[in-house]
Amino acid sequence: MECNFLVVGSGIAGLSYALKCAGVGSVVVVTKKKDIDTATNLAQGGIAAVLEERDTLGSHVADTLGAGAGLCDETVVEMVVGDGPERVEELVRIGVEFVRDRGSSSGYSLGREGGHSHRRVAHANDLTGREIERALLGKVRSNGNIKLLEEHGVVDLLMVGGDVAGWERGGKRCVGAYVMVDGVVEPCRAKMTAVCSGGVGKVYLYTTNPDIATGDGVAMAFRAGAEVQNMEFMQFHPTCLYHPEEKNFLISEAVRGEGAILIGKDGKPFMEKYDPRKELATRDTVARAIDKEMKETGSDCVYLDITKREPDFIKERFPTIYGRCLSQGIDITKQPIPVVPAAHYMCGGVRTDRMGKTSIPGLIALGETACTGLHGGNRLASNSLLEAVVYADRAANFCRSIWSKLKDSKLPLVDEWQCGDARDLSEEILINHNWDSIRRLMWNYVGIVRSIERLALAKKRMEFIYAEIALHYKKYYVTPNMIELRNLALNSLLIIQSAMHRRESRGLHFLIDYPDKLPFPSQTIFKRKGRSNSWDIKIIEESCNE
Ligand code: SIN
Repeated sequence: MECNFLVVGSGIAGLSYALKCAGVGSVVVVTKKKDIDTATNLAQGGIAAVLEERDTLGSHVADTLGAGAGLCDETVVEMVVGDGPERVEELVRIGVEFVRDRGSSSGYSLGREGGHSHRRVAHANDLTGREIERALLGKVRSNGNIKLLEEHGVVDLLMVGGDVAGWERGGKRCVGAYVMVDGVVEPCRAKMTAVCSGGVGKVYLYTTNPDIATGDGVAMAFRAGAEVQNMEFMQFHPTCLYHPEEKNFLISEAVRGEGAILIGKDGKPFMEKYDPRKELATRDTVARAIDKEMKETGSDCVYLDITKREPDFIKERFPTIYGRCLSQGIDITKQPIPVVPAAHYMCGGVRTDRMGKTSIPGLIALGETACTGLHGGNRLASNSLLEAVVYADRAANFCRSIWSKLKDSKLPLVDEWQCGDARDLSEEILINHNWDSIRRLMWNYVGIVRSIERLALAKKRMEFIYAEIALHYKKYYVTPNMIELRNLALNSLLIIQSAMHRRESRGLHFLIDYPDKLPFPSQTIFKRKGRSNSWDIKIIEESCNE
């Protein structure tokens, strides 16, 4: 396999970038499950942008910086917010149908979410992500220059010596990836590779993320030698449905934006105790408040009550949430919804510059996989779809700007995948057991509120699990489940090490031993030492220095 542009992931970032690159060269999009198995497809709230007359770019910038707890890159924030309105209009031109409101100056019905001082979230009721994915996939499928390959997992990046235009000279560059299909691993060579494989919610027992969210992009990029930034900032969404048969169904923040209040099991609202913005405080504050209420009252959940709104409004604005809750016997027009926080969004990721370029020549990172500097220590609601389209556009512009040099570059010969004397894995339990252990360990020891003692214990246990997975990886033929487990383990260690490194409480990272912010904000940046793609327990130990 070979192409000009290899794109790993089929969410909003990967598809938007693929469509733009297809204007200059051949594109292959690989996705390890079906094309719609993406976090984008599950996004409910919408895309934040300044679309209304009374709103201002300055206000969106201020809200983003406020949420980010001193760690946003202000220039990046201004750039993303500034590009926002144009990118939203571009989505509309592609065919995305946001809900309209003729009475508003923007022409759109705009939602409100926590941390925003204005209504500025364009939405398709509570199915915004699905609508965006539908429109983008339609365009991608009908584009003759794009090949979209489902059930194609990626194992590792292809690394060789040499330079790439637009990057500093020296070191190794990325020339594609080892791709696995039907149990066979083959190199797919590319002139430019983009990792847009989403986040890592699956390291936690409870998450709003789809099953694909195993941090593959971050793990592959880190193994290949890329800088990874701020992995301690895992965003927990305050309101995931609490029901034994619905483990990861999100109750959109837009529900609170339309007036829902959080109440305890005694029926009393509690957010006023924590923040004057109450239910519309930023997510870090609301998730921690819920965690505290649950711990103090010994309850398994709290409740979100929207019953004060008209039933017809609720059914029309939140048809999916209404229907899904009703199917579990909860009529949200009449009764409060049981909710708990759950892992939702990785604010850290592969460090990029303002064009989406990583520290590895030839490798771009986009969407949740990337850490661009927009979100800082806590992402503002609905800024992620925005970041994805803005950076997809910027990265594609960068590729076009170097295309005259790139198109004449020769794809180098690369090594075939080496199996050594591996054999078939006969006991899947060896993999499944570790999946379960990691997710429980991360939830209980590296969750919303952390302590040095629990982090240290988590590190010890994770290193043991990591070493065991390393042995399986050497001994057996790789399977999709094993590849994901290996990536989960590496991401878990990166999260733990980053969390231990940050001796303060800031944004989403709350450490009971260090409850205050340090006076000077710093970014946590890790880069592995040693040979690319080697699979050795030491790579974590040796690499996690700022
Ligand atoms: C939500 O609808 O609450 C999720 C939106 C987001 O994560 O930005």
